[in-house]
Amino acid sequence: MRSNFFLSFALFLTLTTPIKAQNVDALVERGQELFNSDVGCKICHAETGEGLVGPSLLFGPSPVDIFDQLESNPVMGVIVSEMDPSDEDLAAISMYIRTLAGMELEADLPERWLTDLEAVKSSQAEGPVFAKTARDLQVEAIETFASVQDTWTRRSKEGSVLSHYQSQVLQTFDPGEAKFEPQPGKTYFYENVGTASTPAVLGDDYVLPEKNQIVVGDAETHEVVASYALPKNLRATVHTTMTSPDGRYAYIIGARADGVADSDMAGLARLEASATLLKADAVTLQPVSQIDIGGRIHHGQIFKDYMLLDMFGRAPNGLALMLLDPNTDEIIGGVKDVDLGGFVYTVWSDKDYEYIYALMEPAGYAPGRGTGMAAAYDMYGGKLLAMRPYWVAKINPETWEVEAEFPIPGYRPNWLIVDAAKEYFYVINTMGNAAKMNLETGEVLWTNGTGIGPYGGSLNADETELWVANKGEAAGFMGRTLTVLNTETGYPQETLYGAYKVDHVLLSPNGKEMWATSNAEGRIYVYDVNTKELLSKIDMPGNGDVHGLAWVHYDENGESRTVRDQGNFHNGVNPMTGNALAAP
Ligand code: HEC
Repeated sequence: MRSNFFLSFALFLTLTTPIKAQNVDALVERGQELFNSDVGCKICHAETGEGLVGPSLLFGPSPVDIFDQLESNPVMGVIVSEMDPSDEDLAAISMYIRTLAGMELEADLPERWLTDLEAVKSSQAEGPVFAKTARDLQVEAIETFASVQDTWTRRSKEGSVLSHYQSQVLQTFDPGEAKFEPQPGKTYFYENVGTASTPAVLGDDYVLPEKNQIVVGDAETHEVVASYALPKNLRATVHTTMTSPDGRYAYIIGARADGVADSDMAGLARLEASATLLKADAVTLQPVSQIDIGGRIHHGQIFKDYMLLDMFGRAPNGLALMLLDPNTDEIIGGVKDVDLGGFVYTVWSDKDYEYIYALMEPAGYAPGRGTGMAAAYDMYGGKLLAMRPYWVAKINPETWEVEAEFPIPGYRPNWLIVDAAKEYFYVINTMGNAAKMNLETGEVLWTNGTGIGPYGGSLNADETELWVANKGEAAGFMGRTLTVLNTETGYPQETLYGAYKVDHVLLSPNGKEMWATSNAEGRIYVYDVNTKELLSKIDMPGNGDVHGLAWVHYDENGESRTVRDQGNFHNGVNPMTGNALAAP
């Protein structure tokens, strides 16, 4: 202790050698240069100092004020790494900011500032030294994301990871009568609705619906035009909404093949158990077939001429992700968890279906596939203080090889969005953050906080904003906001008040609206992308819980095609490439 004291005292002495007075004009000039340099203050505080993503500086910060920010504000880390300003640089910048603010430039200011700065720095050097336990050192060795990247070892098998599962049509049904008459030139939204909303948020007199429903509505008027309630014996816990590429079929989860109802099974075991897939006629809304696909569907989306599915529960020999042919009901191919070195949570693609991106969870925080959710619960609950990393497996659908693995700077990624230029992807993580990463290298451009338990997300049409649905996933309560992040800086620019437990938010095919689906309220909230105003609340029949969304457009000849689902835009429509639907 004593020797430490003398050491820091000596340091203090060397730091307090006198500094020459500076020529004020030269300082201001130097400050101006630094302030406006390529990675200068102007990027975030504006050339005028009035503020952009960073606040106004026109109060005239001293070098100590700036130093404090550089020490503690991660957003300004770029200044430390690129500019690395000396004490005199800081004094110069402070002087220049005073000229922007129209403040006096007293000649003795720089010298007073430098003395203050030295005092702050030396008191830092003199700061107390604390003991570290062996465990502290273990944590220190792994706690940075850089340490994850530096030590990354491939989790997936080398070579092809392709596996097969023989699907089986268990029953076929008469499609029944048309429930609505699609009009040429119009767009319809499809929404699958379950039986598990949250009564507490819907009022005392609310009664849960008994049956799952397929709902269709007018995308322009935001009105429900038809719905069909499945017979109770075909029902299981609803996730996702998807329609075939030609818009002729809508899919919804079907009952277990063995006839055991989900409601007769406990908790997670229920979701782990296999179920079936129902394929319904998109106009009669009634099932045409019930298919065993070796698991319980979680999410689904179009992938070229196929449906790309990821599974909640897998049958003993089932796949974790698969491509299903909507015409033959055959599984073209898929991948098992074991070949990827962890559990697949959700899967994504780019607009050209070049790759499949699987969001991967480390095994073992719960038996089987529930690992990531259980771990996130335990982390929000304070039982876990660190987790093993999560990652993206980039799978080539031609060779079925994993071409790259990208560790994620956050815990439990749910959602992934590839930009239109296929340069970057955005990932949203249950444990309260989102990140922008390079699609080729996995390099992280930014990571920033969101609301609680964020789940789904969407880019706006010009890709300047990332909208995030703060569901409250694994957080033990329901979120009620959307966060809008600036895609350039990652900085949150808006928080929108919304529905309880919104899990997905999707840009509409006309590029002008964000549709947010509320599990808890059984409603869709529609926002104007530009004004951020809430345009509509669309009540689902019976306010059953809603999952996913898909839009089907009918052209002038009455030909249908799916133009948007939870994965991407499809079939020639894409507001991000300037091909928005003119009218919804
Ligand atoms: C990459 C963006 C970025 C750059 C570049 C940047 N800042 Fe900041 N700065 C911020 C943000 C964001 C905050 C607000 C942090 C917060 O919310 O706590 C901030 C806060 C500050 C504050 C605190 C303001 C207050 O109200 O207390 C000062 C002082 C400051 N910056 C000075 C500078 C100076 C001087 C430079 C150039 C050397 C600079 N910053 C460069 C983003 C930036």
